[in-house]
Amino acid sequence: MQSRESLPSWQQLTTHVQVMKQQHMNDLFAADPQRFDKFSIQLPTFLLDYSKNQITSETFDKLIALAKECQLEEWRTKMFNGERINFTEDRAVLHTALRNRSKSPMMLEGENITDQVEQALSKMKGFSEQVRQGKWLGYSGKRITDVVSIGVGGSNLGPQMVTEALKHYSDNSLNVHYVSNVDGTQIANVLRPLNPENVLFIISSKTFTTAETMTNARTAVKWLTSSSFDDKAVAKHFVAVSANKKNAMAFGIEENNIFDMWDWVGGRFSLWSAIGLPIALDLGFEKFIELLEGAHEIDNHFCEAPLEQNAPVILALLSVWNCTFLGAQSQAILPYDQALHMLSAYMQQAEMESNGKSVAWDGSEIDYPTVPTIWGEVGINGQHAFYQYLHQSNNVVPADFIGSVESVTPVQGHHETLMANFFAQTQALMQGVDEPQVRADLKAKGRTDDYINKVAPHKVHKGNRPTNTILMERISPRTIGSLIALYEHKIFVQGIILQICSFDQWGVELGKGLANEIEKELRDQSVNKKHDSSTAELISYYRTVKQKII
Ligand code: F6P
Repeated sequence: MQSRESLPSWQQLTTHVQVMKQQHMNDLFAADPQRFDKFSIQLPTFLLDYSKNQITSETFDKLIALAKECQLEEWRTKMFNGERINFTEDRAVLHTALRNRSKSPMMLEGENITDQVEQALSKMKGFSEQVRQGKWLGYSGKRITDVVSIGVGGSNLGPQMVTEALKHYSDNSLNVHYVSNVDGTQIANVLRPLNPENVLFIISSKTFTTAETMTNARTAVKWLTSSSFDDKAVAKHFVAVSANKKNAMAFGIEENNIFDMWDWVGGRFSLWSAIGLPIALDLGFEKFIELLEGAHEIDNHFCEAPLEQNAPVILALLSVWNCTFLGAQSQAILPYDQALHMLSAYMQQAEMESNGKSVAWDGSEIDYPTVPTIWGEVGINGQHAFYQYLHQSNNVVPADFIGSVESVTPVQGHHETLMANFFAQTQALMQGVDEPQVRADLKAKGRTDDYINKVAPHKVHKGNRPTNTILMERISPRTIGSLIALYEHKIFVQGIILQICSFDQWGVELGKGLANEIEKELRDQSVNKKHDSSTAELISYYRTVKQKII
């Protein structure tokens, strides 16, 4: 396999980056009044401005050449055609089929999976309407008022992030809660105020083997049956979403209450499937479809727009530029919209579980930096916590700023204050302020020379910190669908450029296996496994202290 480093475009970028490291974005903006027009894209649901990156037209052309030399377009076709591009798990990658609103045939091994998807959607529609209209009754004949979704990782983050983002669109006919943590505090806190007669549980697990989810699900069954005194109540109060029907049925879920999932949908790309059932229950099925439509629009854009005007392609290439070539090690996701307060947590799984790897397709070690650590917080809270670091630390952290022109919850005077900060921060991160300016400002304030000499270096902001700005009109099911699909395709493109298997997650298995073994030791003092001295002593300390407490 030809390594990426041997590609002509890669080698040109390696030389070019040495020149670009010396360039300040202030000079690039001063030299080119058209810079914003050149480096921004208007899509139906948002504007993407990427002009505040350390790039020129030459950089951009080289990055596009890299995408072409990596045969990105061919790989994209393979993904949409259902080829088994997730070769380490021998699976196709077809989450796009879940939101194929054109309903054109999508084939997987000779079968049109669009039909399966439509059937699954129609089951979700029927079920969500029954529950929302109070026609689905609990064991004592009462209507459902609360839905508790139990799942973790991809079976939790997507639906919960979207539920939070679209709260404004809920008619509150149901209260939707999420339980992901095996720390009993979470499920106890969620269940304590609820009446089992009114609660519907959704057990979301693609594999139906995830230990944390199974533990929470068993606790939920106990909680229900200790109120109903009858195991039959489970049929009225439990549904499952899983690709493992056998395990779900063995757990005690009625066959009719199981919603399908497929091995061609990765967990972290699954909110478009019945994993999104809590969203449909909360917002109503029509709004769930609008979410799918927003994503489908981006799928079409990704497939049809030339690479030079293709938003997910550009975001991915900029990530490669900033991280692999310029050396950034982390990337901040900074929403200036309270509705998106879970976006960075969602993006952590999406990007880091997909591309946080260091082996290429052919199994060789990758010796260039791949994807960054993803982190973030809603912008204003971040400003008063870690933006100091963004502005003045010696680590450059590229950041995505995401905001809306209109708030879905207008409160007089608030939105302009919020958005003034949104615009000011990317400007400040890009422009900075140099020492002569700092000195002049202090002088103008009447400060002494002594004071100025002491303080000036501390007030210098070097600027030149890359940001992308995504500006939506307002949060809606459609814009959220588009936003998520934008990042999903960005992640796919990153994987292709960096030769990473984006759709497996072997790195989470080792810890899971060890935890299973250690759990036996924590439950039974006579079990002692072999560990390093640190782990052995920690477990021993835990067991000793626990014995004293109990
Ligand atoms: O541990 C990581 C992971 O395998 C994720 O990839 C997945 O989204 C999550 O666990 C939950 O898995 P499941 O849906 O099978 O319970």
